[in-house]
Amino acid sequence: MDIMIFRSSEAVAEYATQVIKDLINKKPATVLGMATGSTPLLMYRRLIEECRRGFLSFREVTTFNLDEYYGVNGEDARSYRAYMQREFFDHIDIVPENTHLPACSSDQDHLDVSRNYEALIAGKGGIDLQVLGLGQNGHIGFNEPTSSLGSRTRIKTLTQGTLNINSQYFSSESQPELAITMGIATILEARQILMIATGAKKAEPVRQFVEGPVSTMCPASALQFHNNTQVLLDEDAASLLANREYYESVQVQKRQLAEQFRGI
Ligand code: F6R
Repeated sequence: MDIMIFRSSEAVAEYATQVIKDLINKKPATVLGMATGSTPLLMYRRLIEECRRGFLSFREVTTFNLDEYYGVNGEDARSYRAYMQREFFDHIDIVPENTHLPACSSDQDHLDVSRNYEALIAGKGGIDLQVLGLGQNGHIGFNEPTSSLGSRTRIKTLTQGTLNINSQYFSSESQPELAITMGIATILEARQILMIATGAKKAEPVRQFVEGPVSTMCPASALQFHNNTQVLLDEDAASLLANREYYESVQVQKRQLAEQFRGI
């Protein structure tokens, strides 16, 4: 994992935007894995801006979101479909049919929906770049602690902690306790991963997944198996890392090597 520490969450969003922009400009038919939540909002705003200014086009891009609440209709403002439309898709030139979430109504077979989602991703040639946020309990997607590191897209029961954090968006009687999420193995198949964590609440899970052991109790620690993951942190999220100086010196060396090879 490449651990990159930025002075602010804006600088994190700027870097993530550049990575995605460079990728799409090189490969217009990029397959992107998307996340919801508060973390990627700044990045979505910057990507929208780039698109409006004509520096970036999503016309050939396909997207797959990590997760969706089970039984929550896409028309419902609390669904992740509605979030994606509101915060991103409605403001860019993406073809609506190319945007995918693992939506599942309560009268659908969740096993079919999950299998089809995996098949759809494979049919598009797999995910080129997956954006991830980090749960306070170390979850990625809705892979809560104890999720199998070999899991595929499936229905998951949310933990009480996740329900409490998300309760701001739901009245208690209507809060979904289940979600369909890409599995950890699904996520690890992405060719590149941008894990974004900002703010002091992410400092402890960041410490655990970066410097702790690989464990189902911290699902994000599975990223230690992935060979092309960049972990983008602001100062607050990086504040508990023991080996910060080392991560910073790695980045300096990388920049120097890049300069050197550009000069050849
Ligand atoms: C959302 C998702 C979740 C969030 C995580 C962090 O699609 O998959 O894993 O990324 O819960 O949420 P925020 O960014 O709101 O702190």
